[in-house]
Amino acid sequence: MKVIKVHDYQDMSRKVANIISAQVILKPNCNLGLATGTTPIGAYEQLIKWYEKGDVDFAEISTFNLDEYRGLGKDDTQSYRYFMNHTFFDHINIDKKRTHVPDGLNEDSEAACKEYDKIVAEAGHIDLQLLGIGRNGHIGFNEPAEAFSKGTHCVDLTPSTIEANARLFNSADEVPRQAYTMGVQMIMHARMILVAATGKDKAEAVRNMVEGPVTPECPASILQLHNDCVVVADEEALTLLEGK
Ligand code: GLP
Repeated sequence: MKVIKVHDYQDMSRKVANIISAQVILKPNCNLGLATGTTPIGAYEQLIKWYEKGDVDFAEISTFNLDEYRGLGKDDTQSYRYFMNHTFFDHINIDKKRTHVPDGLNEDSEAACKEYDKIVAEAGHIDLQLLGIGRNGHIGFNEPAEAFSKGTHCVDLTPSTIEANARLFNSADEVPRQAYTMGVQMIMHARMILVAATGKDKAEAVRNMVEGPVTPECPASILQLHNDCVVVADEEALTLLEGK
């Protein structure tokens, strides 16, 4: 696990965008695993600027998002599909047919998850998986648990995640209680993993991810076993790290 220390959110966003754009330049038809949340917004904005300048071309890439709230569809402003379209895809030359997000509107969770597993399997492998990290160490929506998950599955969100994500809704009551998410094993299959983290809120999760025991109680800790995982984190997110 390689930790790159950056000053602040802006610095983090530029470095994350640099790594993603290098991947797209090196392999124009690559499979990118993408994430939602507030953490990657700055990186997406930077990539849009470089696209507008002609520095990076997204025409041939395919994307696979980590997760989606169960019950929300693309027209719902709180859905992750809506977020991806509005924050990133609508502003670049991507072929929307090659952008994938689990189908939150499929109420049959088994079918929805199976379908997403198939979509990802047919793509072969993900070249670069971008991840944020939850305050409790979750990745995608893989919450602390007794065992690491494998494929796409339906999860019950923890009270801590509901509370953390409530800031994006009118109230905590409106946050969906369930989500479809790629499993930890699927995430680990990506050739390269890029974790972005900023702010004091993430310091404990970042410490457990980088220096803690590998345990499903901190799902991100398994990334220590990946052979090409890069963490780009700012000073605040790294404050609790022993070896910082
Ligand atoms: C959400 C998402 C994760 C994201 C995390 C952190 O619940 N499912 O993919 O990494 O929470 O979000 P943020 O970047 O807003 O702190």
